[in-house]
Amino acid sequence: MEGVGREIRLVARPQGFPGEDLFEVTETPIPAPAEGQVLIRNAYFSVDPYMRPRMNDVRSYVAPFTLGEAMTGGAVGRVAVSRNSRYGEGEWVLHQLGWREWALSDGATLRRLDPSAAPISTALGVLGMPGFTAWYGLFVLGEPKEGDTVFVSGAAGAVGSAAGQMARIAGCRVIGSAGSAEKLEWLRELGFDDAFDYNEQRPYTALAELAPNGIDIYFDNVGGDHLEAAIGALGNHGRIVACGSISRYNDPASSPGPISPRSPSEYRMASRLTTKDTTDTKGCPLW
Ligand SMILES: NC(=O)c1ccc[n+]([C@@H]2O[C@H](COP(=O)([O-])OP(=O)(O)OC[C@H]3O[C@@H](n4cnc5c(N)ncnc54)[C@H](OP(=O)(O)O)[C@@H]3O)[C@@H](O)[C@H]2O)c1
Repeated sequence: MEGVGREIRLVARPQGFPGEDLFEVTETPIPAPAEGQVLIRNAYFSVDPYMRPRMNDVRSYVAPFTLGEAMTGGAVGRVAVSRNSRYGEGEWVLHQLGWREWALSDGATLRRLDPSAAPISTALGVLGMPGFTAWYGLFVLGEPKEGDTVFVSGAAGAVGSAAGQMARIAGCRVIGSAGSAEKLEWLRELGFDDAFDYNEQRPYTALAELAPNGIDIYFDNVGGDHLEAAIGALGNHGRIVACGSISRYNDPASSPGPISPRSPSEYRMASRLTTKDTTDTKGCPLW
C-alpha cells in the first residue's frame, strides 16, 4: 500500500503535568507486511492513566516508554492487508500497537473482535482492560457482600464507572467521587446511591456525611486525600482495592501521605484492613 501514515512519538520526559511539547507527530511510509504479517488500519486508540508513569524513566510493573519511539497502548483497528492465514482482510482486531494510524503485526498478540456483539470501541473500555480491571478488582479482590457499602473514587472514569455499577448489581450501596456536577449527575443515572464532588467537598467530610456507619470496601483509583479519608472510614475487616493513584501521577517528587499501591503497611494499621493490588493477577487465570 502506497502512502504515509502518522504516529505520535514521545520525545521528552515530563516534569509534572505533561504538555503537548513532549509529543511529536511524525509521518512514516505505510509499512508493507511480510509473509505471516498483517497490516492494520487503526480506528481507535486508548489514552490510559497508566501511560503517565510510563512516560517517566522509572521502574514499574510495565517498562517506561522509549524516547523517540511511538507511544504504544491499546488500539482497535481493521486488517487492511493480510499475509497471515489466521486473519482475513476486513476483520477487526484489538492490539497494543497504538498510537499510530497503521500497525504491523505477526498476529501473535492480536485479539479478534466481533463487531456484531458490541460497538468495537468497547474493546478499549467496558469490554476491555478497564472493565476487566473493575470486575477483577471488585469481585476477586474486594469480595463484596450484599448490603456492603462501597466507595469508588474516580467514579466517572472507565474503571470506576464499571466498578460502581458492578457493585450495585452485587447488591451493595455505592458512593462515588468525581470532579464536576455533570459527572455527579451521570453517576446518579448509572445507579450510584450517592456521589460527591471532591472539588467542592473534602473526601473526609463527604464520607463522614454519606457513610456515618463506615464503609466496607474502598475501590481506590485516586490515592492521596481520597485514600486517607477511606482508611479512616473503613470498618473492621474493610478491604481496599488498590487500583491506581491518579491524583499523584503528575507529582514531580513523592510526597508524604498514603499513596497506593506503594505503602500497604499504612492500610493495615487500623481495623485489620486488607489491601490487594489490581496489578497482582497471579490468583486469576482469566487475566
Ligand atoms: N490493572 C490495573 O491495575 C489498572 C488498570 C486500569 C486502570 N488502573 C488505574 O485506575 C484508575 C482509573 O483509570 P481509568 O482507566 O478509569 O481512567 P480514566 O477513564 O481516564 O478516568 C480517570 C478519572 O480520574 C479522575 N481524576 C483525574 N485526576 C484526578 C485527581 N487529581 N483527583 C481525583 N480524581 C482525578 C478523573 O475524573 P474527574 O474529572 O472526576 O476528576 C477521571 O474520571 C487510574 O488510577 C489507573 O491508573 C489500574
